[in-house]
Amino acid sequence: MEAAEWLINYNWEKNQDCEQILKNLQAGNSLIVISNFPLNDTELQSFVHNIGITLKEKRNNNGKDVFDVKITRQNNFFTSIANSNLSFPLHTDCADFDSIPNAIGLLCVEPADENQGSNNFMFLKSLLKKISQNEKQKLLNKKWKLRNQERSILSIENGSYAICYDRITMESFSELNNDEIKELNELDKLFNSLSFKIKLDKGDLILFRNDLILHGRDKIDINSNRLIKRIRFNIYDFS
Ligand SMILES: [Fe+2]
Repeated sequence: MEAAEWLINYNWEKNQDCEQILKNLQAGNSLIVISNFPLNDTELQSFVHNIGITLKEKRNNNGKDVFDVKITRQNNFFTSIANSNLSFPLHTDCADFDSIPNAIGLLCVEPADENQGSNNFMFLKSLLKKISQNEKQKLLNKKWKLRNQERSILSIENGSYAICYDRITMESFSELNNDEIKELNELDKLFNSLSFKIKLDKGDLILFRNDLILHGRDKIDINSNRLIKRIRFNIYDFS
């Protein structure tokens, strides 16, 4: 993985100093990768408990903090989109939840084969640099239906912009008209043009802001053993 200004790299240590990592996450200007992270749920949970409050979801391993993202089929159907081999367009996780966690950790236990399953990211700050004030206002004003929620793609939280976008959910729970579909097609094109790829190695834990960064992934082979452990959390308020 190449060093870049938007990427902060750490090496895992038994008693990691989490304060700097928390500050990096608070600032929200970068992706954080911790290399050589232990490949188990217990370490992942206890590490993230140092920097935030995790979401416990029913479908997680033992109903706790960690979800295994891997190809899983039952009667020839994938058990969820996360358990498929499909590519995911750039999105926000939990866009339809009452309260959206502001950070995500992905621990690569088993990478996909060469040239597949890369993770894609787009920083909201790249988008804000690219679009006009008028376009920002449009994205702040228009609300989209996300299951039981109505949310705009851009919002202002505590004086700063945040992003919430999940086209699959938007299209699953409402009938979009032609203009809306065109608008989202244009947005997807723009998001993709601003995105970049990261291929995680075994033992890489990537931490990123769910409210300031969109993420997605490339397609993987149907027989791939790729395994990513996902943990969603709200970072501690450091201020
Ligand atoms: Fe996701």
